[in-house]
Order: sequence, then C-alpha cells, then structure tokens
Amino acid sequence: MSEKRVTFASKIGIVAAAAGSAVGLGNIWRFPSQTADGGGAIFILVYIGCILFFGIPLMVSEFVVGRASRANTAGAFHKLAPGTQWKWVGRLGVLTGFVIMGFYMVVCGWTLDYFFQSLSGNLHGVTDFSGNFNTLLGNPLRQIGWMILFTLLTAFFILSGVKKGIEQSAKILMPVLFLLLMILAIRSVLLEGSAQGLNFLFKPSMEHVKPTLFLDAMGQAFFSLSIGMGCMITYGSYFNNDINFTKTAIQVSLLDSLVAILAGIIIFPSAFALTANPGTIANELVAGGPGLLFITLPELFNQMPLSMVWATLFFCLLSVAALTSTISLMEVVTVYLHEEYPLSRRKSTLLVSIGVIILGVISSLSAPFFNILDVASAKFMLPLGGFFISLFVGWYLDKQLVYAQLTNEGTLKQSVWFLKIYIILLRYVAPIAILAIFIYGLTG
Ligand code: PFF
Repeated sequence: MSEKRVTFASKIGIVAAAAGSAVGLGNIWRFPSQTADGGGAIFILVYIGCILFFGIPLMVSEFVVGRASRANTAGAFHKLAPGTQWKWVGRLGVLTGFVIMGFYMVVCGWTLDYFFQSLSGNLHGVTDFSGNFNTLLGNPLRQIGWMILFTLLTAFFILSGVKKGIEQSAKILMPVLFLLLMILAIRSVLLEGSAQGLNFLFKPSMEHVKPTLFLDAMGQAFFSLSIGMGCMITYGSYFNNDINFTKTAIQVSLLDSLVAILAGIIIFPSAFALTANPGTIANELVAGGPGLLFITLPELFNQMPLSMVWATLFFCLLSVAALTSTISLMEVVTVYLHEEYPLSRRKSTLLVSIGVIILGVISSLSAPFFNILDVASAKFMLPLGGFFISLFVGWYLDKQLVYAQLTNEGTLKQSVWFLKIYIILLRYVAPIAILAIFIYGLTG
C-alpha cells in the first residue's frame, strides 16, 4: 500500500474532526433517554467513571494504533501484528460501524424531518408533541425518505474528500451548536418548576437503579466517545506526527461530556416543568422512550419567543452534528473496503450506502430490529472491541512503540507517572472492568 494517505491539515481541524465524530445524536438524543432510563444522577456518575477510567485511555490507544499503522481499522491490526488473528478485532469494528449506521441513520432522518417541520412552520401549531412524534413513527415511508436522504448526504461528504468534507463542516458549526445549547440550558433552568428536573439529574438516588446500570453507562460512554470500533484508529491514521494524543483525547472527551450534560440540563428541567402530571413524571421518564428529545424540546421552544427560529436553528445544527458523526462511521467502513479489496473509493462508498439503506429500511419498519441494533452495538460490540484494543495496546504492542507514539518520538514531554498510569489503566483496569461489567450486566 504505497499510495500516499491524506492527513488532516491543521491541529484545530484534528480536534474538531474527532470531536465532530464524538459529539452527535449520542449526546443529545441517546444520553438523555439513557439517563432517564438509568434513573438520573447515579447513571451520570457511573458514566463519568467510565469516561475517565477507560474512555480516555482507550481513545489514546486507538490513536496509537491508527498513527503507528497509517491504515484502516482492519489493516492496522494486520500491519502491526502480521500473521496473527488480531485482524478480527478490526473486522469486528468495521461490522460495528455498519450496525450502528443501520439505526443511527433513522434517528438522523427524524432530525431532518423535525428540521423541515420547524422550517415550514408546521411544528409551530402543534399542541400534542408526543402525538406529533408518534405520527412520524407511525409513517415508515416518511422515515425511510429522510433516512435515505441523510445516508446520501453522508456519502456525498465521504466522496468530497477527507480534508474538505470533514474538517470544514466540523470547524465552523460545532461552536455555534455549543452556544445554542448553552442558551437553551439557561432557558430551561429558568422555567418555573425546573428544580425537580435538576434534582433528578444531579442528586443521586437509588430508587430507580437497575442491575444493568453499569453495562448501560459503559455502553453509552463507548458510543458517545466513538471508541471500541476503530473510528479513532481511522482518524488517528490521518493525524500528523506532532499531535499530542493525550491532550486531544482529554479535550475531545471533555467537550463530548459537556455537550451530553448540557443536553441533560436542557431536557430534564423542561420535562419536569412542562409536564401536566408532576407526580408521575420521574416514573414516566424512567419508563423512557427514544422520543424524549423530539417531544420535550419542541415543547420548550414553544415557551420561547420566536419559537420557530430557535427550533429551526437547533434541528439544523443537530443535523450537522449528526452528519459529522455519520461521516466518521461511514469513513471507517469505506476506507476498509477501499484499502482491503480492489474497490475504488467511489464504489466502496456506494456499496456501504446501499447496505446502510437496507438496514435503515428494516429499522424504520420494525422498532424491535432498531432496538436490537442499538443494544447489540452499544452494549456488546463496542465494549468487546474496546476490551481487545486495550489488550492489544497494553500487552501485545511493543512498549517502546507505544511510548514513541505517546511522546511523538521523544519530542513531547510526558511525565513518567502519567505514562505509568496510562499503562496500568490499559493493562489492568480497563480490560478487567469491562469484563466484570459485561458479566455482571448479563447475569445481574
Ligand atoms: N459518537 C457518536 C455520537 O455520540 O453520536 C456516534 C458514533 C460515531 C459512534 C462514530 C461510534 C463511532 F465510531
């Protein structure tokens, strides 16, 4: 493979692209519904623990594998461990990316639908917001149309090239989304009756704890950070040699968690403040549902002056955040096909898009199928991938190579204690914790 691979142009572009992959519907749609389902504050605590103890070390490890090999996810293992079975970890990652796209694109479609509902003013006249969302869920053709459009949009960006497509879109719009989320969070907290929502979010209570709490929170952490399937391996393979992996991983994880918490601060106070039956809202939230974002937020916009403008802006930016995530997902699968098989980038993209559309159609028609893809990828495939990646970098890879990557061949000053902590987390803490949570979650 002597063909020259592209690299990201600027440092800010790198953080933006990795953050663009991490920040998406996982933070703004999935995190609130998982938090509600997991009983609130206690879920968030476990989630943050997962980010610190294995999210960040694993992201760094994926960067190491990516830049050391400069290859696609499966090719990376092939190159660094020739003649071994490690390549299956890469292949599992590619499959995971495909499975995630199979339901994620459907939610992207919902986001586009809501964007056009806001833009056309239709959302403005709605009074029954949960009925409005259910109408969309009850109309497979409408969902499929938007899902296909979103998949084609993603494919377009994949074909327009790594630098132009990913970097530019991420760099400009992410800060705007962040600002908007801040404004919405403030508005939500200022609603009368919001305090209970903040309590639900920040005051741990054992009332709603489930045996699968740890598995759910771990799955959410992997999903949200885009780790465990080699997405960050693929992005790492485009990184320049002077990128500080640790700093980048910490920045991306911080930003990602901040956006998720902000989404919580927007949704829960409004859900409590705007409900007709405050007595049962906590139980209703725990019973959960994927619609939280699409029901509660339009209700919040309705409370604001110029509601249509806010709603349009929000769903437009959310679509962009989702797009930078679907681009990273599709990139993993496309580059794999392009580099491992005699397929052009264009043909690979076409093939992946067709596969994703087929899965997306089935997910739109069947909620159980949608859920299977969601659960299988977040709670099984990503943690399993993460488990093997931690073993690979912690135990299999030559330590000198890992240190050389972490310190950029000795040019970066990384304190010894820091490197030691990283290795301990990677060798012992991450694999043991992932395995324990897995077994406990499945048997508990
Ligand atoms: N992290 C993305 C989100 O939170 O929306 C979803 C995702 C993207 C998961 C890329 C995995 C991945 F490789």
